[in-house]
Amino acid sequence: MTDSKSNSSPIGIFDSGIGGLTVVREIFRKLPGENIIYLGDTASVPYGTKSSETVIKYSQINSRFLVSKGIKLLVVACNTASAVSLTGLRWDLEIPVMGVIEPGARKGVRITKTGKVGVIGTPSTIKSGAYKKAMENMAPEIKVYSKACPLLVPLAEEGWTDGEIAQLTARRYLEPLKESGIDVLILGCTHYPLLKSTIQKVIGEDVALVDSAEETALEIERTLKENGISNEGSYSTQREFYLTDVSETFIAIAERFLGEKVERVEQVDI
Ligand code: DGL
Repeated sequence: MTDSKSNSSPIGIFDSGIGGLTVVREIFRKLPGENIIYLGDTASVPYGTKSSETVIKYSQINSRFLVSKGIKLLVVACNTASAVSLTGLRWDLEIPVMGVIEPGARKGVRITKTGKVGVIGTPSTIKSGAYKKAMENMAPEIKVYSKACPLLVPLAEEGWTDGEIAQLTARRYLEPLKESGIDVLILGCTHYPLLKSTIQKVIGEDVALVDSAEETALEIERTLKENGISNEGSYSTQREFYLTDVSETFIAIAERFLGEKVERVEQVDI
């Protein structure tokens, strides 16, 4: 850490858009004393259907912006960006860098009894094989069954998180995973925690869901402690939200993801 940073310096979090707010929501719940700066690259969303080269380039630009704000820890709160750009960012930056894949993968490996774990995510995350590789590194005997579920992202943004359309869509994607006999399913996309109850209904109560946003917040807590940079307060004073494009519907959607009021949002050109 450089001298200009202290325990009260903010945690920087970026996502392709607003989905990373599910991670912010968990940080607010579990680490209420931490200051945060959030960047949503809403001008470039979705990342989930773009090439790795493009997502790596966006991730570097986003990190540079957050680092310039004096953050003490960077959280890549986007599964797609974590899948393709984490290693490079860790190499480039002097502060701790965390993604959302390792925490979810670790929990999946820890709780499976059958050794069969399902993962759902965007097409890019699934194509990268990042969850599969992470879990196989942790436990080579694990069998990983993956499925891209692209339509769950717009459903979550529209607020159609339960009801007939959400259930039919989830069923269409999850049926093959159900047949493979998994006992754990990792929600490998920022948007999917909002569809948790529909996914649980469709996949069945005997399959444990792993919410990577929740697991990431726990791992942030551990990383802050290990590095001696926790801010042990009761309520943070700095909660800044930046977007590369602000649409009319942003506030409503963001409040759905965050589960609370979003007051200050600023558009930035990075
Ligand atoms: N944030 C992305 C993820 O977690 C989902 C939205 C997108 O495709 O950009 O993979």
